[in-house]
Amino acid sequence: MKLRTVGTLLTACVLALGAACTTAEQGDGEAASYAQPDTTAEALWTHMEEAAYTENWTLWPDKGALYMGTEPHGMLLTTYLNDLALDAVTNKAGAMSAGAIVVKENYMPDSTLAAITIMYKSEGYNPDVNDWFFVKRLADGTVEASGRVGMCQGCHAQVADNDYLFTGSLSQ
Ligand code: HEC
Repeated sequence: MKLRTVGTLLTACVLALGAACTTAEQGDGEAASYAQPDTTAEALWTHMEEAAYTENWTLWPDKGALYMGTEPHGMLLTTYLNDLALDAVTNKAGAMSAGAIVVKENYMPDSTLAAITIMYKSEGYNPDVNDWFFVKRLADGTVEASGRVGMCQGCHAQVADNDYLFTGSLSQ
């Protein structure tokens, strides 16, 4: 084997190892910060509980807790965004990226929780409506609707140009 060939092989090995290490590190980082639950109501709720969303996620900017909503979602709303969803709102990104989760808690006028509606963007899940997965849970945990829910999508389609989101603009 000529010396030059050995050198080339060595370089190739070092590069390959380096690439492998970098890939592994990036992979771990992504898994930690962008864990994406399965598209079932149960998996999504487990993910939200583990994230302790009421403590660790952010209220929709410029909306406080228990703000006045419009029909059909109940009188008082509190809307949480995970980090990916918040990024899209604050950076006016036009649309949210895969992994974004928007959680809207719906309270009765006397401030008791009635239901929680959730939109979770999962890549490739629902191409007709920008890949949104919809869930409605009642206060007692009953899942009233989940998946590609026609009723949810039909109404949210009014704001298709804002990534199917009503609460605030995602563009400049
Ligand atoms: C008839 C229209 C309509 C239907 C049906 C509807 N929504 Fe909404 N949704 C709205 C409006 C309007 C808002 C903005 C908040 C408000 O003012 O009530 C909203 C807000 C939301 C939000 C907060 C993010 C955003 O778009 O601003 C989520 C999450 C949500 N809805 C989930 C659902 C789910 C899940 C369903 C089905 C179970 C559903 N919605 C059905 C009209 C609708």
